[in-house]
Amino acid sequence: MIKKCLFPAAGYGTRFLPATKAMPKEMLPVVNKPLIQYGVEEALDAGLNEISIVTGRGKRALEDHFDISYELENQIKGTDKEKYLVGIRRLLDECSFSYTRQTEMKGLGHAILTGRPLIGDEAFAVVLADDLCVNPTGDGVLTQMVELYNKHRCSIVAIQEVDPQETNKYGVIAGDKIDEDLFQVTNMVEKPKPEDAPSNLAIIGRYILTPDIFDIIAKTKPGKGGEIQITDALLEQARKGRVLAYKFKGERFDCGGAEGYIDATNYCFEHYYKTGKAY
Ligand code: G1P
Repeated sequence: MIKKCLFPAAGYGTRFLPATKAMPKEMLPVVNKPLIQYGVEEALDAGLNEISIVTGRGKRALEDHFDISYELENQIKGTDKEKYLVGIRRLLDECSFSYTRQTEMKGLGHAILTGRPLIGDEAFAVVLADDLCVNPTGDGVLTQMVELYNKHRCSIVAIQEVDPQETNKYGVIAGDKIDEDLFQVTNMVEKPKPEDAPSNLAIIGRYILTPDIFDIIAKTKPGKGGEIQITDALLEQARKGRVLAYKFKGERFDCGGAEGYIDATNYCFEHYYKTGKAY
């Protein structure tokens, strides 16, 4: 059973400056909830209630968010405003939260390796909170992936088809189709130019990783952008037939940039806020 979910959250959020100068990008609100809360809710819905967050300098608001605010709660006790905190209280009651700090930004692979002491020797999920994923007609993306993991017992990356001109923003896979929406990964490349991309199937910010990934990352040399890339480490597992790519059901919004963020805001306003499901 997978119980742990790792949130790499040390990045600077440069695409969202100046908003992210003093505030963690993971705390950007989509309507009334910070991005990271959507991610933790998705994890808990998938049965992952041990939340591990890799933070960095200037990220203390994350820890404060997943804590009780006595003054505030005392103030609104017994008023109709109490309902606003029902969702976050549920997360505090049902999840544990642990933190470690990444002191240098050396890439997503390095961030995941930094989380190793919090994860130990078990399979775990990774959520990049700026990819907000929703599935209005069924299970959340992590729930879908955990179900697949229980069947296949190997690493899994979530993928979606992207415009072939945009492959340079993503890890891109090549694979053999083994089931509807499921590929056995044969190759993966971090942010290839369109002409070098093995397909237009892009990895988005949801992973399930088997714990051998840590030793592999530790041996992985810096790749694209001089950073230690999780894509390169996963390629090692893929060469042994140990990585699946799953075209998930649902929608994903890239909230690291203005366009995806606005789309996510409009979506959540319509589907959650207006329907009274926002807390
Ligand atoms: C990271 C990964 C990339 C993946 C992307 C998904 O890139 O390195 O392989 O496709 O997340 O959001 P980043 O967006 O952090 O540059």
